[in-house]
Order: sequence, then C-alpha cells, then structure tokens
Amino acid sequence: MSTTDQETPLAVRGALLRFGGILALNDVNFDVEPGETFGIIGPNGAGKTALLNCVSGVYRLTEGNVDFFGERISGLPPHRISAKGLGRTFQNMEHFRRFKVLEYVMLGRMHEARASVFASVFAWPYMERLEREERSLAMELLEELGLAHLAQAKLSDLPYGVQKRVDIARALLGRPKVLLLDEPTSGTITQERTEVSRAIDMVSARGVPTVLVDHDVDFVSRHCARVLVLSYGKQVGVGSPAEMLARPDVIETFLGTPATS
Ligand SMILES: Nc1ncnc2c1ncn2[C@@H]1O[C@H](COP(=O)(O)OP(=O)(O)OP(=O)(O)O)[C@@H](O)[C@H]1O
Ligand SMILES: [Mg+2]
Repeated sequence: MSTTDQETPLAVRGALLRFGGILALNDVNFDVEPGETFGIIGPNGAGKTALLNCVSGVYRLTEGNVDFFGERISGLPPHRISAKGLGRTFQNMEHFRRFKVLEYVMLGRMHEARASVFASVFAWPYMERLEREERSLAMELLEELGLAHLAQAKLSDLPYGVQKRVDIARALLGRPKVLLLDEPTSGTITQERTEVSRAIDMVSARGVPTVLVDHDVDFVSRHCARVLVLSYGKQVGVGSPAEMLARPDVIETFLGTPATS
C-alpha cells in the first residue's frame, strides 16, 4: 500500500489491534489535516488510548498503517516516532509525580539529550548553553500557561488541572509536529477545565495539528470541527460534533441503550 501525501500530518488506515480474544480496534480510519484539532470520543474501554498508543508506537497494530507527513511510522519503536516530531501527553501521570514542574517540562527535550551523548562528552560548554536555552524556553511556556510561579513546586502537590497543563508544556518543549492529547480533563473540576481549555487554545494558536481524546464531549466539541466516535474499538463515524451527536447510533454509544427515535 502506498503512503499518504506529505501534507497530511497524520493518516490512520485500517487500524486493527487484537489483544488475545479482544479486538481493541477494528478498522479505524482517519486523517488529521494541517493545523486541525481532531477529536476522538467514546465511552470507557472504547479503544481511545489504545489508538493513541498505536499511533505513538507503544502498541504495534495487528493490521493497518499510520503515516506521519506521508512517511510510514507504524512498526517503528516509540522513541523513533517521537524523534520524528510526534508529541503526546499522558492520561496517567502517576509515575512522574515526584518531579518538580520545571524538571518535568525539561523532560520534553530528553530525546535530543539522548541523541547528544557524544556532544555532552566532547562539547560540554555547548551542552550547558543548550540546557540554559531549553530552560528559558520551558519557563516561557510555563509563563504563557500562567504556571511560572509553580516552577519549583512538586507535581504531586498540584491539582490535576495544573498537572495536565504542565504535561502540555512538556510536550510543546519537544516542538511537536503533531500532538496527541489523552484525556487532558480527566480528574479535573469545571474551573480547571477552563484553564486546560486555554492551554489547548494555545496549542492550536501555534498551528500544531492535534488529536484530542476526552470523555467530556462538550469539551471536545468546543475545540474540534471534526470528531471520530469510537465504540468497542469500532469507528461509529467521523463528522462535525453537531452532526455526530444528532445521530441515533452515536447517542446509543454514549447511553448504552438503543435510541428509540
Ligand atoms: N495492554 C492491554 N492488554 C490487554 N487489553 C488491553 C490493553 N490495553 C487496552 N486493552 C483493552 O482494549 C480496550 C480499549 O482500552 P482503552 O484503554 O484503549 O480504552 P479507552 O477508550 O481509552 O478507555 P478510557 O475512557 O477508560 O480511558 C479495552 O477493552 C481494554 O481492556
Ligand atoms: Mg483511555
């Protein structure tokens, strides 16, 4: 099969993922257009995280392909995909909660640092300058997100809404060409959601094509002109939020009962 064109940030074709007897994804197809914030919605266990994991290389598709600006990335390991410019945030940040905010944001440049082990030994002043520049960029991002005053706070001491925004800053420091956001509002209260929403506006203002996965359908509808609805790994449809939410089969997906009219 030929790859898609180089203008298309992300193209997923015939994505199928099997875990033993479970079909976590079954023939999922979508494109993310330049500058677009593309939504994915669906109930618990629909396959949303599994889909993002397949795009980022954490899971390997059983069948199908993922192309990134026309280049096939499915089958590559996660660090290779991330080095090409695919950024992501995490639904669960549990393992990182001992980090301080600024330290955590700096992790966004880790793949660069790894690639530069040679440089770090033979060009120490250069590395120091790079580190300083990255630190000041990280601070600028925190500033823009209204979080600069928390740079030295521990992530575990901060509300989920703040942690999610810090995670967006980390992902942005990696200069992603495409960004995957997994449940940026999970665990947050309404007030925090407005802040997370602003952070996503900041991402789209930068023109970064983004895939936004979230439980909160209103939240996704506010940011995305197109959404994909997933149910038990199957794609129910792709369309505008208004168009999708008016469909009986989509209503059934969310309510878990057949629509009567
Ligand atoms: N590593 C795994 N091993 C086995 N089954 C898995 C694995 N990861 C996901 N699954 C299964 O795949 C299906 C989709 O799970 P996934 O986590 O992608 O759902 P989700 O839509 O992200 O749900 P949530 O809204 O709760 O985050 C579920 O049935 C889940 O049990
Ligand atoms: Mg999930």
